[in-house]
Amino acid sequence: MMQQKKIIITIDGFSSCGKSTLALQIAQALDYIWIDSGAMYRAIALYFLRHQVDMENKETIEKALENIELDFTINQVTHKSTIRLNGEEVETEIRQMPISELVSPVAAIPEVREFAVVQQRKMGEKKGIVMDGRDIGTTVFPNAELKIFLTADLETRINRRFAEMKRTNPQVTREEVQTNIENRDYIDSTRAISPLKKAQDARVLDNSHLSFDQQISIVLNWVNELV
Ligand code: CDP
Repeated sequence: MMQQKKIIITIDGFSSCGKSTLALQIAQALDYIWIDSGAMYRAIALYFLRHQVDMENKETIEKALENIELDFTINQVTHKSTIRLNGEEVETEIRQMPISELVSPVAAIPEVREFAVVQQRKMGEKKGIVMDGRDIGTTVFPNAELKIFLTADLETRINRRFAEMKRTNPQVTREEVQTNIENRDYIDSTRAISPLKKAQDARVLDNSHLSFDQQISIVLNWVNELV
């Protein structure tokens, strides 16, 4: 596809509706960079867990954030991004249940959000980026050219995440996955700062019954209208 200009594409939505999969597909199709903003919150949560950071104490939180450096290595061929926490690849560890349970409370902390958002905005300076998360279209890039609010029904989301988590943790139960998704959805959409909500100008895409090919062709049509 001939690209006239590079744009910013945001994908927000509830847990496990396939944001990362869609973001990667778009990045590959357009030769864009994909940034998984959730991985940043997960890596911060991992640091908080390892260092037993007191989440009630603003000073302790600020100190911890000063010691956290996040960066992504991006595979030039697959466009997959791998997050590093202070130089260590933590991609596998941050997808496990202990982090899934801690991440939403950590992501609700104002200092944590400020820390992440500053870095996310920097990553978008050159455009040509697809970023997925919860507040990307509302807070991080309110002027993004294309905003997508991705949805899928709860059963579909639980099934997808259960299958995904079972691959690295055969012990995980469907109930655990369901509880985690519901808890995170609740915390993410009710927190005071940058709660998950559809940006006014976002386009809704429900992929419950769409194939990968169908969803990507819908999005690429939207991109073509804009570039
Ligand atoms: O993949 P999944 O949808 O389950 O979650 P994620 O994208 O890995 O994000 C993990 C958690 O990070 C979310 O449940 C939110 O609490 C938080 N998050 C956020 O607050 N803001 C973002 N832009 C992205 C993630």
